[in-house]
Amino acid sequence: MSYINENFLELQDSYLFSTIAKKVAKFTEENPDKKIIKLGIGDVTKSIVPACLEAMHKAVDDMGTTEGFKGYGPEQGYDFLRKAIVENDYKQRGIDIEEDEIFVSDGAKCDCGNIVDIFAEDNKVAITDPVYPVYLDTNIMSGRKITYLPVTAENNFKPELPKEKVDMIYLCFPNNPTGTVLEKEELKKWVDYAKENKSIILYDSAYEAFITEENIPHSIYDIEGAKEVAIEFKSYSKTAGFTGVRCAYVVIPKQLKGYTKAGKEVSFNQLWNRRTCTKFNGVSYIVQRAAEATYSPEGKKQIEENIKSYLENAKIIKQGLEEAGFTVYGGVNSPYIWLKVPEGMTSWEFFDRLLEEANIVGTPGSGFGPHGEGYFRLTAFGTKENSIEAMNRIKRTNIR
Ligand code: MLT
Repeated sequence: MSYINENFLELQDSYLFSTIAKKVAKFTEENPDKKIIKLGIGDVTKSIVPACLEAMHKAVDDMGTTEGFKGYGPEQGYDFLRKAIVENDYKQRGIDIEEDEIFVSDGAKCDCGNIVDIFAEDNKVAITDPVYPVYLDTNIMSGRKITYLPVTAENNFKPELPKEKVDMIYLCFPNNPTGTVLEKEELKKWVDYAKENKSIILYDSAYEAFITEENIPHSIYDIEGAKEVAIEFKSYSKTAGFTGVRCAYVVIPKQLKGYTKAGKEVSFNQLWNRRTCTKFNGVSYIVQRAAEATYSPEGKKQIEENIKSYLENAKIIKQGLEEAGFTVYGGVNSPYIWLKVPEGMTSWEFFDRLLEEANIVGTPGSGFGPHGEGYFRLTAFGTKENSIEAMNRIKRTNIR
């Protein structure tokens, strides 16, 4: 007899974005003439930036020559990309990270999900609520005890430090789904807590490029001492249009230590390296060359343009919703706009009405956790035309 991992039975039936996709597919089938505007899952609409595309073409050609051909690459990523990351994302910002602290991967979703492999199953985990579902689901899958940290308008979307001691803490800023941020001093409190309690912060920084305001940390390593307590996740998905290409990286500083039950210190970097070599064969050469090109002068400029235009959409959506009478958060340092649904309506009821009456797809706040109930997320990753049209449609409905 083969027994299952019963933790899976504790999960919701379906992953949030799959549930939404199914609902939208059903609506489309029943209403083939309706033009749906999708502002649900945070998938980009701008194609891969030209600098990356060019690098990919060149890399494809390399693969067709005997000299340029690459077979299995280093599991942790090619040196050329790890060097470019260290130089551009860290050194130039005054942060000292070494190349062997970078692990290139096929996506921050996979990294955030896989990282649990190197942590004990009885670690206590703190997760903000609402939250990107991957942190929660992967910890439920491995049977860990979860402490929820509410982030709502009542606490200005700033999670409070856990009352009980926790071992792992997931933070994502700029936040998915609320689009809100922490200032340096606020993030420092978490680094201090982690130091005091020997906890590890798992810091998802996938939306860092959308920060527009001063005093918002672009990396957790901007905070003194964070290298002793934090793992950072970064992604090329939302900047260079890599949601389908797949490339990201995780930073695990060498001084980051965990403990055996007998109290022996062990380096998380070593564990992750061991795991990576066993379970992963590296991101393709072609994709890593494309990621490298994000750091070229043209690449940087093109990405800046992308971000600028997504932020412009965010502004259009934020203003449009406010004009329509909604209370709105986020959208300033983030591509996500988080709105309060009308009094007396649940997030899913709002989802249904928005789909039926305005043919707009968003994401119900409760799908991100119990404290997301009463809220709704729209993304700025659509086109400008659709962002404007969506706001006009919302204004024409009476969903208030
Ligand atoms: C989201 O919509 O929250 C994200 O696009 C999902 C992801 O990055 O996996």
